[in-house]
Amino acid sequence: MKEVKIESVFQVYETILETPEEVQELMERAVEARQKAYAPYSQFHVGVALFLDNNQVVTGSNQENASYPSGLCAERTAIYYAGAQYPNAKILKMAITAASQLKPTLSPIPPCGACRQAISEYEIRQKTPIEMYFMGESGKVVRSHSLSNLLPLIFDKSQL
Ligand code: THU
Repeated sequence: MKEVKIESVFQVYETILETPEEVQELMERAVEARQKAYAPYSQFHVGVALFLDNNQVVTGSNQENASYPSGLCAERTAIYYAGAQYPNAKILKMAITAASQLKPTLSPIPPCGACRQAISEYEIRQKTPIEMYFMGESGKVVRSHSLSNLLPLIFDKSQL
């Protein structure tokens, strides 16, 4: 038996104003997207903005459904839209913001496990890391240099 240690490193910014200007602009687009969330059941609004290597910004928000599992997270709404509209573009940066309508959301909200798996497909396919930034409605912002940094021991097509 041997033990394997996997390390993840993140950067934590005190506020969005500490991040590079292009990240502030991308997060602003994510905030706008968040305001378009359809989340009448959870009251938890999530917005995502993607910066692509063709200079386009694609946004998404969570879209819920009375049949709960039929809804979709903001991250997957955004990446599937990007994949459908710009199949050859690489996703370089992803900004995520979330705000509950029921209580303040002041800590950074990372993508859920299912979204990490979905985003990993794109990162592996494009062979370029997706730089991720996530925050609540305000406050600290966490940066991960890639999706794989967020999802150790990933399951991917090489295992099929
Ligand atoms: N949600 C997202 O959009 N992204 C995540 O990574 C976490 C959860 C949405 C799904 C659902 O509409 C609501 O937030 C509560 O889970």
